[in-house]
Amino acid sequence: MPGSQFSVLQEDVCVPSRRVLVTGATGLLGRAVCREFQNSGWWVVGTGYRRARPRLLRCDLLDEDAVRTLVHDYKPDVIVHCAAERRPDVVERHTEAAVNLNVHATATLAKEAAGSGVFFLYISTDYVFDGRNPPYGEDDSPNPLNLYGRSKLEGERETLRHCPGAAVLRVPVLYGEVEFVAESAVTALWPRVQEGAAESCTLDHCLQRFPTDARDVAAVCRKLSERGIQDRSIRGIFHFSAKERMSKYEMAVAMAQAFNLPSSHLIPLTEQPAGSAVRPVNSELNCSRLELLGLSVEPRPFRAAITDCLWPFLPDKRWRQTVFH
Ligand SMILES: NC(=O)c1ccc[n+]([C@@H]2O[C@H](COP(=O)([O-])OP(=O)(O)OC[C@H]3O[C@@H](n4cnc5c(N)ncnc54)[C@H](OP(=O)(O)O)[C@@H]3O)[C@@H](O)[C@H]2O)c1
Repeated sequence: MPGSQFSVLQEDVCVPSRRVLVTGATGLLGRAVCREFQNSGWWVVGTGYRRARPRLLRCDLLDEDAVRTLVHDYKPDVIVHCAAERRPDVVERHTEAAVNLNVHATATLAKEAAGSGVFFLYISTDYVFDGRNPPYGEDDSPNPLNLYGRSKLEGERETLRHCPGAAVLRVPVLYGEVEFVAESAVTALWPRVQEGAAESCTLDHCLQRFPTDARDVAAVCRKLSERGIQDRSIRGIFHFSAKERMSKYEMAVAMAQAFNLPSSHLIPLTEQPAGSAVRPVNSELNCSRLELLGLSVEPRPFRAAITDCLWPFLPDKRWRQTVFH
């Protein structure tokens, strides 16, 4: 029985006919993708690596034989490939390991998907663009500024080379239901917001970002997959992004306002910090292809969605009780 050598995330008594394999299921986006497909009646198998827990498969995607066995045994209709090294500064420091995961493991999965007739969905990033001429359409020329963006672009190319029927979904910076606040570059701002008036804190006000809730991306992944397994013209590159443009400084101020906290200690910084990987100034994505196909979702407003994601990290339980219960 497919998947029998592994524990599965969900196996209904009446096994649904559609199966999805989600890589990176222990990560921010992968968790949301698993939940979204489960809630829509798919049979879901999620893989993780260091954080794989009893209900997820542990599979090192750098192990080609393990990847082949996984796809062969499980026989999914769809693979949503979320696993990646997505921290630009880590990619600069550990480039070989990151390229192995972001490029070579992607190529292995894409080959297996093509060989098995699986709809392959590769998650990519707005960092494939240099940010000098936004907004970017799917056909605009990428020109990544850092090694992370380059590795993800290579991952896209390997995907489409080995699996021409695949889809690539580019998304901007993500936040969502995090296990710890540092898990997303957006929720990572929360401790600095909470510092309050005690200490002033400089935050980037130079790079324009479009913080997007992972739950919205997950819904787009499901819609793309459901259409993709029926309609083989659903292939190539797609963009999805929330519409609110914000610097990190503006995100932090919005968080402070949402929780009625002071924000006067937050100081906008208008130069990129030295010593970290160069990021695009504004890599806004034009998302019209998805919208025209009816495969988009209305992005959650930032203020409401970030409140949702941060409330488990509120130290003041009385506030939580007053506002949410
Ligand atoms: N987060 C963002 O702001 C953002 C923005 C744009 C695009 N993206 C893209 O969205 C996708 C998902 O990102 P994310 O934020 O969800 O990433 P994440 O939270 O950092 O999760 C990364 C996942 O990759 C898995 N992984 C790492 N090494 C592995 C290996 N050798 N074998 C198998 N799995 C391995 C991790 O498993 P363990 O933790 O269990 O080891 C984890 O599940 C990525 O493709 C990323 O490039 C993310």
